[in-house]
Amino acid sequence: MTTIKPLSRRLSVAPMMERTNRYCRLFHRLLSTETLLYSEMITTGAILFGDQERHLGFDSAEQPVALQLGGADPVALAESAAMGQSFGYAEINLNVGCPSDRVQSGRFGAALMADPALVGECVAAMQNVVQIPVTVKCRIGIDGQDSDEELDRFVATVSDAGCEVFIVHARKAILAGLSPKENREIPPLKYDMVYRLKEKRPGLEIILNGGVQTLEQASQHLDHVDGVMIGRSAYQNPYMLASADSEIFGAKTPVSSRLDILETFADIVADKIADGVPLKRMARHVVGLFQGEPGARVYRRYLAENAWKNDADADVLRRAADLIGPVTRNDANETVGAAPAPTA
Ligand SMILES: Cc1cc2nc3c(=O)[nH]c(=O)nc-3n(C[C@H](O)[C@H](O)[C@H](O)COP(=O)(O)O)c2cc1C
Repeated sequence: MTTIKPLSRRLSVAPMMERTNRYCRLFHRLLSTETLLYSEMITTGAILFGDQERHLGFDSAEQPVALQLGGADPVALAESAAMGQSFGYAEINLNVGCPSDRVQSGRFGAALMADPALVGECVAAMQNVVQIPVTVKCRIGIDGQDSDEELDRFVATVSDAGCEVFIVHARKAILAGLSPKENREIPPLKYDMVYRLKEKRPGLEIILNGGVQTLEQASQHLDHVDGVMIGRSAYQNPYMLASADSEIFGAKTPVSSRLDILETFADIVADKIADGVPLKRMARHVVGLFQGEPGARVYRRYLAENAWKNDADADVLRRAADLIGPVTRNDANETVGAAPAPTA
């Protein structure tokens, strides 16, 4: 039985489809023991009618991990949430922010912002069957519904149903005319709306998301909100997470170097390969590890040329490290030993 520390959402890595799978999370966990990690969105259909172990299985070393669900049917969400709890997730999060066509055709994701009563029903149904927190990730608004009053009405209805934690992507969702990718850049972010929501509802835990690129920016937002969720920047430049335990959580743990992290990950990867997981499913998450460092290009090119081969093994990561080792051997502020070893 794994012991799970009390959840802190001061910093989290956002749910990202095709990115934040279990291998990505194992890697991110080597960088930060405190940051809360989210799964990709998993639909209730995939959980209830698909291969549950494939969709939900994860290593206890990734904890704490929140499971993000996609769906709009309270019964299916409750069954899926219960399943998530039984797999050991530390939180269940409902996606009320994704604007993709596929999600819209199922009438979930951001489309749910137009139906706060239904979101409340979904939250209540999940809370009835799990003991872990049930949270909502939403936008500041959708389409023409984008005022403070409308956001507050959404949050009031859903919190009346029992939700105490809202992760708010500070950019409104546009359901027609923009791709999800475009809708991550347009329209502009409105952090003030999230700050005002926290002022108006101090009893709720409000987490800000959208466009945060550094821990320094995250710290500034933390003057106004309870937590910050980072998506793309954490994926593209994962080493930013290495300072999170000390800078955001006030922990005294030393910061491991990029090379130490990579070497530790290579050992984990070797075990996974022995279990039949191809290197390419794991190596893609470490491509950005040396971003901005001398040697980063050589490292990326080596991975691109070698990690995607069918018979590639963990030595590909070790050789990539050897290529840049002399350049970055002392790249961390305090390089003290290896990152914490996973427990499973
Ligand atoms: C590739 C990709 C996949 C995403 N998948 C999800 C998802 O499954 N669920 C979700 O709620 N948001 C998803 N998002 C949105 C992010 O969670 C986040 O809200 C958004 O990227 C804004 O944060 P950022 O500016 O820090 O990246 C995704 C974003 C990206 C870039």
